Amino acid sequence: MHWGGDLGTLSESQLARFVAAQTVAVPPSSIGDPAVLSLVPVASEGWSGTPGLTGHRGNRTVEPSFSLADLAFTEENRIAVTLADSAAGLEVRIELSLSTEGLLEARSSVTNTGVDRFILGRLGITLPIAPRAREVLDVTGRWPFERRPQRRELAHGSWSRQTRHGRNGHDSPELLAAGTLGFGFRAGEVWAVHLAYSGDHDVYAESHPTGHAVLGAAELLAPGEVQLDPGESYSSPQVLAAWSAGGLDGVSERFHAWTRQRSRTRHRGAGDRPVILNTWEAVYFDHDEEQLSQLASIAASVGVERFVLDDGWMIGRTDDSRALGDWIVDPVRWPNGLAPLVDHVRALGMDFGLWVEPEMVSLDSDVARAHPEWVLTGWPERLPLAWRNQFALDLDNPAAFDAVLAQLCVLVDEYEIAYLKWDQNRDLLGGSAHRQTLATWRLMAELNARYPALEIESCSSGGGRTDLGVLQFTDRVWPSDSNDPLERQRIQRYSSIVLPPEVIGSHLGAAGAHTTGRETDLGFRLATAFFCSAGVEWDLTKASDEELASVRTWIAAYKEHRFLLHSGVTVRADPVDPALELHGVVAADRSEAIFAAVCLEAPRDAVTTGLVFLGLDPGMEYRVEPIDLGAPVRYFHAKPQWLLDGGVTLPGRILSEIGIAWPPLQPQQALVLRAVRV
Ligand code: DGJ
Repeated sequence: MHWGGDLGTLSESQLARFVAAQTVAVPPSSIGDPAVLSLVPVASEGWSGTPGLTGHRGNRTVEPSFSLADLAFTEENRIAVTLADSAAGLEVRIELSLSTEGLLEARSSVTNTGVDRFILGRLGITLPIAPRAREVLDVTGRWPFERRPQRRELAHGSWSRQTRHGRNGHDSPELLAAGTLGFGFRAGEVWAVHLAYSGDHDVYAESHPTGHAVLGAAELLAPGEVQLDPGESYSSPQVLAAWSAGGLDGVSERFHAWTRQRSRTRHRGAGDRPVILNTWEAVYFDHDEEQLSQLASIAASVGVERFVLDDGWMIGRTDDSRALGDWIVDPVRWPNGLAPLVDHVRALGMDFGLWVEPEMVSLDSDVARAHPEWVLTGWPERLPLAWRNQFALDLDNPAAFDAVLAQLCVLVDEYEIAYLKWDQNRDLLGGSAHRQTLATWRLMAELNARYPALEIESCSSGGGRTDLGVLQFTDRVWPSDSNDPLERQRIQRYSSIVLPPEVIGSHLGAAGAHTTGRETDLGFRLATAFFCSAGVEWDLTKASDEELASVRTWIAAYKEHRFLLHSGVTVRADPVDPALELHGVVAADRSEAIFAAVCLEAPRDAVTTGLVFLGLDPGMEYRVEPIDLGAPVRYFHAKPQWLLDGGVTLPGRILSEIGIAWPPLQPQQALVLRAVRV
């Protein structure tokens, strides 16, 4: 009946009158009863949109017609609805819970209560949106340009984002939002859904001539993938949904608060996320103990707290054509094992992380030679097309699962690993995405249980797996292989609608971005990597003393401010000129905030006003000053007076509603500023 603003406390009779008043009339040439939308709508209710549930028995389509069997308040703000159709032999349970922050968690499950096998087609959750939701925004992308926004009018029909990668994919519809015309980060009413799942997705927005408009989400199942014998059940992935009257920032506020609340026991607290050095773009497969030890020494000297050895350490792994599945240290390039490097890293005061890709296998590996039956195939059994020269290991096979788990445990024990960078570098293209995804989650859960302090980063050729489902078992996601700050501005802007910034990895790369070839200033790279879970992915052995001094200053500033950066409210201005973007993080008590004024390309105007510091307390006064990140910022011409003065003190109302003069930043420059309540 209603998904939107709080209706306040309603008496039972007010509620009944509300429902009655929402009930539509019966139009000509239609079913004889007023149409009512359910959470799992099916044809027998008169629903002709995407069904909430489909399936068959033998050669017969099952056409359920459910009645309410039970409605229970299981906890505060949590209800469970049970629907049953004994003739169809199905029982559906829908659990809904609304967090204090206003995030809706919805999950459905179906049990086969019949006498023969039920083959499930789909089971999802459908949520109503108001007729004024006229535009849809979702994200797409490709390697390494993830989370690109796309918008369209919500016309009659279905805008369905189906993904069949066996992982979320670089085009993952991580966010699907519908809103009032022109909705943005700060403006408009928005309804948004996220499927907290690491496998195949169907996320959609639909509008029908019947007057119904919905957002829906379900796991995209392959035909015959889920077969339920009598008594067996299937549970849908969790659907997370947020409504906001204050644009996408309001959606983020609900998602971030919920994720932080859920994460409290698992993830490191705000202010405690270590600065990482990742070796990938520094050395790739070119592993040399002496060089990497030198890199570790320099990393520690500039303030890095965690050293992560990326791909290339396994037996024979001198390129990407072999050795996946053989989780054994290469005796040629690492004749003394990893211990000397690990000891060195620890002696320098850093902890040690290691790259692994547990779900994969190379045909050129001992494991594939010994167990060809562990390589995941579809049916008929033949290998899928190779992707980066590799194949998936069938983790649903208990022997393969146990073998990879045992190898991971040996590594974690032997090297007292603090952090695994868990990579996944291919689309499955064969085999059951459903079973493989759940088996992967089980493997992660098993490691969580055995090593409660072990942190895991979810990486999938960059941002191919960054959902809130995998974040139940992991601590950080790698949103893109692009360390190009210009691309990263957008990737981080749109990744952080659903994900809080502290779980999004952001690395300082070399001046020439390896993925795009674009050359950028150190200052722009530092300002961009400052805002999420910061790290370095650059061969610091080749950096000049001046550059190292800049990195040291940047890391010190990051450590000083990371509590705020990782606990505050994310704010993003809707740009007047697309060349100029403002984003920031405001402390929960609004006592301080950090903002970045970013110039992406040549601005439209020579000078401009309206640099707003969103989210400040209008009744308080703030001092705004630049933060020194260690490298210069370049300007087109003379700075405005407030910047020449080193800052400005003004009431929050003026700073956040009217703003001040923009600094005349050159393209691909950013100025980071701190506002402190005086
Ligand atoms: C893909 C990842 O996204 C990279 O960061 C790196 O770990 C490589 N794989 C290693 O093969």
